[in-house]
This record gives sequence, structure tokens and C-alpha cells, in this order.
Amino acid sequence: MMIDFLHEYLNLTGSRLGCGEGMCHACAIILDGPDGSSREIRTCITGAHLFEGKSVRTIEAHAERGANGDVIRLSAIQQAFVEHFSFQCGYCTPGFVTGATVLVEHLMRKPIRRAEVERTIEQALAQHICRCTGYVGYYEAVRDVILSTPGLVRG
Ligand code: FES
Ligand code: FES
Repeated sequence: MMIDFLHEYLNLTGSRLGCGEGMCHACAIILDGPDGSSREIRTCITGAHLFEGKSVRTIEAHAERGANGDVIRLSAIQQAFVEHFSFQCGYCTPGFVTGATVLVEHLMRKPIRRAEVERTIEQALAQHICRCTGYVGYYEAVRDVILSTPGLVRG
């Protein structure tokens, strides 16, 4: 599976093995399409060979890093999760960062109306399971990013 390839061969261990059955999305990474689109892929149920020739983003790629590899700036979603105390143990967090980032990137291409924001977030993250926080901190953080990023909401 792709998660084994990432962890064991590339030492990219930020994605999390939760259920191992495609249910929790803790293992999700981003598959970048040639047309600029992005979508989540669950690496616990997807063979590594299926990514051959494809462009992916793991959780390690979200923050901005300096020349020595140290993180110098979190992504907007990551920063919002910190500020909202969205997570406790953090096991689910890479998956939530992935899902929320894909949502924001989708809205950049296809903005929604203000009245649709909460429902859109719930739909986008409904498959992500967190056993600690009850989700509210995550959802509120994503809503703040969507409302404060120009161009994601119209009208
Ligand atoms: S670990 Fe992949 S979906 Fe749960
Ligand atoms: S913060 Fe612990 S599982 Fe989500």
C-alpha cells in the first residue's frame, strides 16, 4: 500500500495509519491533477504502483520550509487548526489538513455562496474521523480560512 511505501521507503511518516480499511481518512494524501485540480486519496487502501507518474502532496509538503528543512511557516489551514485548538492527540490531523486543503483549493476554482459554507465543510470532511475533539474546532477553523481567503465565497 502507498502508506507503507511512504513510511518505509521514503521516510515520509506524517500520514497516519488509523483504521487501515479506508474508513477514517487519517492516511489521506493529495493527488494533484495535471489540470490543477487536487483530491484526497486514502493511502491505506491504494497500492503504491497506482501513483506511478503521478504528482502527490503528503502532509510534509504543506508547511513552508527553510533551506535546512525546518518549518518556517504553517499553511493557512495548519495555522488555523493550531489557533482553534482543533486537535488533542493529533493522530487525525494530517488527514484533516489534507481534506481541508483540498476543499480550499476546490473553492478557489469554484466559489460558493456564504449560505453554503457550513454545509460544504461538513460534506467535505464528513469522512474524516476524530476520536478526541468532537470536530467543532476543525470545522470552525476551516470556516475561518474560507471566509478570510479572498475569492472562495461569492455574493
Ligand atoms: S487509515 Fe486509511 S482510511 Fe483509515
Ligand atoms: S485529535 Fe485525536 S483523533 Fe483527532
